[in-house]
Amino acid sequence: MQKSMICVLVISLISFGIFAGMASAHDPSEEADSAHTHQLPPPWPYHVIMVLAGAISLAGGAFTARYLKKRTRWIELHKKLALSGVVLVLAGIFVAAYMVSAYMETPFVREMHAYLGASVFIFIIVTPMLGIFQFRSKDMRIHTIHRWSGRITIMLILLTIIAGIQMVLTVLAYDVMSMPIK
Ligand code: HEM
Ligand code: HEM
Repeated sequence: MQKSMICVLVISLISFGIFAGMASAHDPSEEADSAHTHQLPPPWPYHVIMVLAGAISLAGGAFTARYLKKRTRWIELHKKLALSGVVLVLAGIFVAAYMVSAYMETPFVREMHAYLGASVFIFIIVTPMLGIFQFRSKDMRIHTIHRWSGRITIMLILLTIIAGIQMVLTVLAYDVMSMPIK
């Protein structure tokens, strides 16, 4: 248990480092065109509502698997909440991809929130596949891998939400500062 906790901590720190590195590794001369000086794309509230609804559903699913295991049919509840969460978060990510390509002259914004969001996209596909596959495989390690990839998914979602809020606040603050004083 302790060994796997150290393992997940190391994986999380490495991924965080990679994303931070990727997010900051661009030419500062591009800063003028960078996402922080732009206006928020108009459909952004739809993106936020969808991903937040999905995040709540996924958190409920993880809670069920951790604390409600004594109940009969907990797996059904876990599966329903997790899969609804996956559908909502995926829909929210598609809205993000659409709004960015439609309003921001690029298919992908190079900032921390988007890199974290992309990592959520990967985990949210792999985790339910592992969840379903664990019943079809005799290898008990799949259970453990699913548990940890589920926990990492939830953690990445939290980080993505924090980065999203921070990004929106930065853009709003920039808008306020660039308002003409009458
Ligand atoms: C699980 C939660 C979330 C995920 C997975 C997610 C994912 C993403 C992704 C992948 C993009 C970039 C799309 C692209 O570049 O093609 C994006 C953009 C965006 N997200 Fe999120 N997001 C989440 C939560 C939030 C939250 C909580 C906010 C605000 C409070 C937010 C606000 C935005 C905005 C405004 C953009 C447009 C990019 C920009 O203005 O620079 N997101 N999101
Ligand atoms: C993105 C979707 C999913 C997430 C985020 C997720 C998350 C989790 C988490 C965090 C745990 C461990 C709880 C703990 O002990 O802390 C768990 C356990 C479990 N999940 Fe999922 N899950 C997802 C999808 C699924 C699906 C589709 C199934 C298939 C029925 C499933 C079946 C299970 C089972 C059987 C366990 C118990 C494993 C064990 O303790 O050996 N999960 N899940």
